[in-house]
Amino acid sequence: MDVVHDIATLRAAQNGQRHRRTGLVPTMGNLHAGHLALVRACRGACDICVVSIFVNPTQFGPSEDFANYPRTLDDDLRLLEAEGTDLVFNPTVDTMYPDGQEGHVRVRVPSLAQTLCGEARPGHFDGVATVVAKLFNIVAPDEAFFGEKDWQQLTLIRTMARQLDMPLTVTGVPTVREPSGLAMSSRNNYLSHEERERAALINQILMQIKAAIERGDRAYADAEARGRRVLAAAGFEVDYVAVRDANRLVPPDADANTLRILAAARLGRARLIDNVGVEL
Ligand code: PAF
Repeated sequence: MDVVHDIATLRAAQNGQRHRRTGLVPTMGNLHAGHLALVRACRGACDICVVSIFVNPTQFGPSEDFANYPRTLDDDLRLLEAEGTDLVFNPTVDTMYPDGQEGHVRVRVPSLAQTLCGEARPGHFDGVATVVAKLFNIVAPDEAFFGEKDWQQLTLIRTMARQLDMPLTVTGVPTVREPSGLAMSSRNNYLSHEERERAALINQILMQIKAAIERGDRAYADAEARGRRVLAAAGFEVDYVAVRDANRLVPPDADANTLRILAAARLGRARLIDNVGVEL
């Protein structure tokens, strides 16, 4: 496994491999089983698996956890090596933003950047779209892999790639969960043992709403309000519980049949997100 830190060395390592199907798994490191599922999907579908590890400053708000975001490069590299990763791209902030962050081009997907998590995290999705567009240009993958846990991010990246005619496939990989149902996330490390057990409530509520919709209940606003109340009563600070059209993330029309139920809530130091799909 090659580990490279700059773009010229990455391109040199890719030289002569361009005829082989290249997959990219973009990450911010602190890898867990959810990331390893992306690497496995990449290895299953592609000849060459490139993983990027970059904690991207432009997607963190001023009061967010950029400085303290867990950085565990040595452990990450051990895990990636064991998974058969071919190439790791681990650039510095200066490599990714050589002209600084302020004046840098921003990629914005206006229809998706301001809703749901975009309301609580202004600018977050512009930072994500920008860095992912740069990674796509740098690595030039045939296919890129993202977790369904960040459903809004996955939808936004799919939309960006389609609207900007980027020549690659964006593939979503199902969420990996702890036995309690809690979605795996680097931010789960911020939870105490007791909070980690309580955090499973988010997925339980999403599953209850899904079951109600599958039974024919279309009172989405009532279900959302109930979900928010239950989470708040359990000590969560709730950003949203929302039933949306799965692809456009707008409230569903009466005849919408592919839905996503999404939630974001803070517990202790962690902001947790999760979502489940419903096919009608
Ligand atoms: O999901 C993440 O870890 C990040 O948002 C991503 C896609 C690697 C961009 O920095």
